[in-house]
Amino acid sequence: MTYEPTKQPNVITIDGPSGSGKGTLAARLAVHYGYNLLDSGALYRLLGLKAQQQSLFVDGAFCDGIVPTVQLVDLALTLDIQFIPNKDQQLVVLLDGQDVTQAIRTEQAGSLASQVAVIPEVRIALLQRQRDFAVLPGLVADGRDMGTVVFTDAPAKIYLTASAVARAERRVNQLRNMAIDANMNDILSDIEARDRRDTERAVAPLKPAEDALIVDSSSMGIEEVFAELVRYIDLKLG
Ligand code: C5P
Repeated sequence: MTYEPTKQPNVITIDGPSGSGKGTLAARLAVHYGYNLLDSGALYRLLGLKAQQQSLFVDGAFCDGIVPTVQLVDLALTLDIQFIPNKDQQLVVLLDGQDVTQAIRTEQAGSLASQVAVIPEVRIALLQRQRDFAVLPGLVADGRDMGTVVFTDAPAKIYLTASAVARAERRVNQLRNMAIDANMNDILSDIEARDRRDTERAVAPLKPAEDALIVDSSSMGIEEVFAELVRYIDLKLG
């Protein structure tokens, strides 16, 4: 009798700073390969939003500057969230059954996300939730530590970056397309602050995995980047 090896889902990780184009490219790659999609940043954004709803934040900072670790871990473990693809293949995000697709995309939600994301206990609480997305036939996982912490065995790892100015310009356009008011200087300083917080934090800092393909998309169009990523992934997944 022969035993078939158990088939494992293929995992493609895409890490990089905010506004590097990872979200768009991850979604396109998921459609291209017919894989599931994990937008791990959305998990941190949802947790930030939930913490705000629970009044753990006041004026964008933790109350009295005290980090409410126990409450945040509890929220992370019990977050009631759903990602539902709509007819345009985009994900509708529900928190406690409410559509928060737009609410989690604001710069303020990004700032809350990066404040909860520096807490080691919160990251551990969200670890298994993220790994549960890796089901057959495969997963495209978009975030900051997908290749370095969450899916270290992934056969294809990408680190996508771009200059802060290029990323700020893209973010302004993206927000304006969603009819959200955006100011270039505010967005740029927010991106720089978030970069600092993401790269300098002690736990799971933003950095390329040692075996990642690094792509700087500052002066590349989306199609060019997509083609380069597909070439690399096809090579890696054989
Ligand atoms: O990718 P996005 O901008 O939605 O992520 C929001 C914030 O969540 C990031 O600035 C980062 O602080 C945090 N994050 C993280 N680890 C991930 C994904 C996001 O720390 N894997």
